Amino acid sequence: MSRRFTARLIEKRWLSSEHFLLRLVPEEKTPEPKPGQFYLLRPSDTYDPLLRRPFSIFRSSKGTIEFFIEKKGKGTTLLSELQKGKRLDCMGPLGRGFPLNILSQDSVVVAGGMGIASVFSLLEHFKDLIFIYGARTKEQLFFLDELSSLKRLITVTEDGSHGKRGNTVDALKEVIEEERVTSVFACGPEGMNQSVSRLLKSHSIEGYISFEERMACGVGACLGCVKETPQGMKRVCTEGPVFSVKEL
Ligand SMILES: Cc1cc2nc3c(=O)[nH]c(=O)nc-3n(C[C@H](O)[C@H](O)[C@H](O)COP(=O)(O)OP(=O)(O)OC[C@H]3O[C@@H](n4cnc5c(N)ncnc54)[C@H](O)[C@@H]3O)c2cc1C
Ligand code: FES
Repeated sequence: MSRRFTARLIEKRWLSSEHFLLRLVPEEKTPEPKPGQFYLLRPSDTYDPLLRRPFSIFRSSKGTIEFFIEKKGKGTTLLSELQKGKRLDCMGPLGRGFPLNILSQDSVVVAGGMGIASVFSLLEHFKDLIFIYGARTKEQLFFLDELSSLKRLITVTEDGSHGKRGNTVDALKEVIEEERVTSVFACGPEGMNQSVSRLLKSHSIEGYISFEERMACGVGACLGCVKETPQGMKRVCTEGPVFSVKEL
């Protein structure tokens, strides 16, 4: 089955002035995405910008795929301006997602900021776990109603406006010190990801972390997305975006 396809935009929903959901219907049969995988979306019909932009699968159901996007620069602004009915050039699902077979009630999922886009479908797949969700302020915590059906939701904000004041790494440290944790799944800004990785290594806990790099081809050919690891350079688009802590 080809990973390149066109899809029709059937819904655009703003969640803040900078954040929106896009729901697409592929016009041909495409492989089922796994949590943690991503798609490349072309923001316009022209070659400006030249490159497609990568976005995690946020949710997929009944033949639709959904993305949760933050407006950053030219590509995401163009995507935010698309109208219902528009056809988009897409590629995916791509990359290595989260391993679902080790999810258990002793798992913890951690998301910082837009990391929610990558782990949301994992949380829909398995709800009997602890989810630590952090952002700068309460306005940047999304989907709290949907997340209330999880076994336990711990929110943290930098300004203390929702949940505990602090960061996701300190919250994870507390959970690890107080409870049995067998695996951790995380996605957040680079600094958070690195700190989670160090924390899990120091406690010998199995972990899988999703990383972001700027991408061009998305299929391992251009080496535009390489990440340095103790085992050499790895391509985030094919060997990731989810890496085991053992590889980092
Ligand atoms: C595997 C993967 C999954 C992603 N999933 C999502 C998602 O679900 N939702 C979402 O909103 N964003 C996601 N991103 C980030 C998203 O791809 C970028 O924000 C987007 O490409 C920016 O395009 P732009 O043209 O709007 O911004 P540009 O004009 O290209 O850049 C604007 C700013 O964003 C920074 N930036 C651009 N691309 C990246 C990147 N890949 N990583 C970090 N910083 C970047 C630039 O340095 C610059 O400061 C993901 C990235 C990857 C690699
Ligand atoms: S984007 Fe080309 S190798 Fe990863």
